[in-house]
Amino acid sequence: MCGIMGIINKKGNAIKKVIEGLEKLEYRGYDSCGIAFLTANKIETIKTKGRVKDLKELIDTDTKSNIAIGHTRWATHGVASTINAHPHTVGDITIVHNGIIENYKELSENIDTKLLSETDTEILCAYINKLYNENHDMLKTLAKLKTDIKGSYALAIINEDEPDTLYGVRKNIPLILAKNDNEYFLVSDMTAALKYTNKFYLLENDEIVKISDKEYIYDSDLNLLKKELLTFEGTSNDVMLKGYPHFMLKEIHEEPMVINNILSYYLTDGKFNENMPEFKKYKNIYFVGCGSASYTADIAKKVFENYANIKCEVFLASEFRYQKHFYDKDTLVVFISQSGETADTLEALRITKSDGIDTLAIVNVVGSSIAREAGKVLYIKAGTEIAVATTKAFTAQYLLLTLIALKMAGINDLSKFYKINEALETVFAIDFQKYAEKIYTKKDAFFIGRGIDYGLCEEGSLKLKEISYINSSAFASGELKHGTISLIEKDTPVMGIITDENLALKTISNIKEVHARGAYSLFITSLDIDGDFYDDKIKVPHINNYIDPILIVASLQLLAYNVALLKGEDIDKPRNLAKSVTVE
Ligand code: F6R
Repeated sequence: MCGIMGIINKKGNAIKKVIEGLEKLEYRGYDSCGIAFLTANKIETIKTKGRVKDLKELIDTDTKSNIAIGHTRWATHGVASTINAHPHTVGDITIVHNGIIENYKELSENIDTKLLSETDTEILCAYINKLYNENHDMLKTLAKLKTDIKGSYALAIINEDEPDTLYGVRKNIPLILAKNDNEYFLVSDMTAALKYTNKFYLLENDEIVKISDKEYIYDSDLNLLKKELLTFEGTSNDVMLKGYPHFMLKEIHEEPMVINNILSYYLTDGKFNENMPEFKKYKNIYFVGCGSASYTADIAKKVFENYANIKCEVFLASEFRYQKHFYDKDTLVVFISQSGETADTLEALRITKSDGIDTLAIVNVVGSSIAREAGKVLYIKAGTEIAVATTKAFTAQYLLLTLIALKMAGINDLSKFYKINEALETVFAIDFQKYAEKIYTKKDAFFIGRGIDYGLCEEGSLKLKEISYINSSAFASGELKHGTISLIEKDTPVMGIITDENLALKTISNIKEVHARGAYSLFITSLDIDGDFYDDKIKVPHINNYIDPILIVASLQLLAYNVALLKGEDIDKPRNLAKSVTVE
């Protein structure tokens, strides 16, 4: 969840580059931040409860330093405050940490340092300092540390005793070592280093990295490893706004490109190619994910059921981990995750694997933990997603899942998929602000629909609430009369969604019911339906049952975006959220 950026070079510009990197990593957590750097062989630390732009104002970025570590925080232990912000220093040791140390109490009993903050990280730092004082050998210290601590962590560490060396360790939290000819970057993800390099080493759990004159990567027994230097597919352009006011808007507008990426990778001349595996042997599918990733599955499930006749169930990863499972060898469990690092999804994957059940990951971030650990991985090829609210990755997940469903259904005429991008351009041309104006001052909002449209409601509602802070709920529209309709007041916005013609009349009746009770009813559809049951209508093009959801989702994303824009909210960094949820 937090962002780590460490750098070591001989150019004296480490501070400037760490700040630049933190700006790129801020989407991972942004309730406070800080930097520590070595200047004249002394460590200096500057922290703030604010954003990276506030940190920048506290620092002379021209101060010469060859080594610095920085952090953007998403608070777990201790409130968001300057004192709790990272880096933390005890004795010679200064660290930044992403993750949670579970046995921090036990560790605290072994240290005699007076702590300043409420964080597990400061305890960890004191513990590292204690170990180092005992052996004066950082590698041995880190190897011992790994056997003593429980939890998840990515750490970048500097030691005043070794002013030319940067250390890193990780367990279940991503940490990447990127390099070019002149410098090294220890980063949470490549977005922070992309301006300077696309070459990197993926660090595995329990590896220890030491960077001084060059890089040394060790296993937990301190054997030196030879690792492959990998090339990241993206460029620094991916993490720039390119003229858009927000990443969210940019990423919605990248959906046509992402759709092209998927179609050209998994299809050739409109037919499945060898990149799309065969899944014929499975009789049941379980989908597991969190938040939007689970809603993608709710929608795709209908395509699997209706076209491939496959029995499906969707699970929230945080529930799946702790419940009884009834899967068997005929079940494929599909783990859906943009980041590939979501702690609950990763743990659910490990449980499934240990039960001997086949697993498939649908992931965006190449080489992420879920991608590496699943039995099979299919990438959604969405490119870097920066806005905290997922948009293009959601669309890509749904498209890829739909293709898998059609493959299982034996449908091989996929020509209709090539119509999506033209249809999306029509959606992008709709004036969403006009509808957003009727919603943005309201306290509550509802999304109603049936069948596949109910899944769309869940996603539309989540998008709206997470970035506009309007209390929004999704309901299967048949449920309205069983309680929820009591919440409808004059002008309460109710978005009624219809793409399924078989259920249209039923949902229309439900929209009528809220309309009659004074709601502002916004009808969102791909079908040619008119009537006097709505106040406003958003009409997206109609292609077919399983493609229309992509067009509806784009309209829901743009509606939420425009509402948040009118409210003046921080769209790319909604309060309390973080992009990659690496803690339970
Ligand atoms: C909502 C959103 C989240 C994520 C969820 C899972 O806009 O982005 O609900 O979908 O946190 O994240 P991943 O897909 O990275 O596992």
